[in-house]
Amino acid sequence: MSKKLNIAVIFGGRSGEHEVSLVSAESVMKHLDQEKYNVIPVGITKDGAWIAGKNSLKLLKNNEIPKALKTILTPDATNKALMPIDQGGLASKIDVVFPVLHGTYGEDGAIQGLLELANIPYVGCGILSSAVGMDKLAQKIMCSAEKILVPDWLWLSRKEWHWFKQSKSVFKKWLTEVEKRLNYPMFVKPANSGSSVGISKAHNRQELIKAINLAARYDRRIIIEKGIEKAMEVEVSVLGNDKPEVSLPGQILPSNEFYDYDAKYVAGKSKTIIPAPLPDEVTRKVQEIAMEVFKLLDCAGMARADFLLAKNGRHWQIYFSELNTIPGFTSISMYPKLWQASGVPYKKLLDILIRLALERHHEKSALSTTYRTSGWYK
Ligand SMILES: Nc1ncnc2c1ncn2[C@@H]1O[C@H](COP(=O)(O)OP(=O)(O)O)[C@@H](O)[C@H]1O
Ligand SMILES: [Mg+2]
Repeated sequence: MSKKLNIAVIFGGRSGEHEVSLVSAESVMKHLDQEKYNVIPVGITKDGAWIAGKNSLKLLKNNEIPKALKTILTPDATNKALMPIDQGGLASKIDVVFPVLHGTYGEDGAIQGLLELANIPYVGCGILSSAVGMDKLAQKIMCSAEKILVPDWLWLSRKEWHWFKQSKSVFKKWLTEVEKRLNYPMFVKPANSGSSVGISKAHNRQELIKAINLAARYDRRIIIEKGIEKAMEVEVSVLGNDKPEVSLPGQILPSNEFYDYDAKYVAGKSKTIIPAPLPDEVTRKVQEIAMEVFKLLDCAGMARADFLLAKNGRHWQIYFSELNTIPGFTSISMYPKLWQASGVPYKKLLDILIRLALERHHEKSALSTTYRTSGWYK
């Protein structure tokens, strides 16, 4: 029998989605095949301290951080291990990292950068796709350049917003222009966000101002988006590296006016329909666009692509909404549920993701990182 792989599952982190990550990671760790893997739980506190060991999930949940468990993942590419901060502790060799981190520092390319330096295979997207996947603005610009339909939008920086507010006439003029272009309702979002944190729907000028003020608390860049009315929210799961596959589509029926934080996480609130009741050609189109975006952003391993569909008579308008590179991973989350419905059970999904991580790493390792080394620089 081949030797068990050491899988470090990393969760928590300095993110507004810290708690969501704990729930996702608990589920991932429960389903990883014990016969094939040694699971090493690695928790990152809200302050950014790393702890490793079998109790780290519980300790993180209770906010108890014993110094003895503090650990670091060194960027030294020859090390490939988690090192205890206290001298004398044992280092844990790592074969694959499974980052089950949502939002900032986990889903945005930051930890992926560390793992690249450390030369450790990891599950999911690399630096570029993670960063673009997290940045709604960069994502829209890339997709628009490739003629992928997205809801009309504009953006401004937090600084510009403060400048606008300083002059009554400039402020009014700007607001009128925005209203003329996008109409109400509008969605206001921090460019870097997830789980609907900092996102609001504005039905009038007063709400628009409030919504921008709120979004500005979460990011330096703010997006204002045309609201797609009576939109059907549809999601698909993508799995693979160079030849990705796309799952059946699922529909979200948010319990609130839109799919906000509570509608997402308060149990039993929102409903899902799998497969989404769509004509076959619409399903196919959605799957095609998901695959196109996955490739465009240079994704690897997994991503969930979200859409807003508007029906106009018999014509379906398919808006690409956003890509999530580390989607929710609880057993009732859309990403694994869509695969389950498409014939890939949760446990097998984890096996595939680990295999894809190893394949991508192997492929990258074959790339040349040296050039003209014959000593000319000495
Ligand atoms: N342009 C839009 N038109 C209609 N609904 C939208 C629009 N943008 C966002 N929403 C609603 O807000 C939710 C959260 O927005 P989204 O861009 O997906 O952010 P997050 O990354 O936080 O999930 C969506 O699931 C949807 O319910
Ligand atoms: Mg979303």
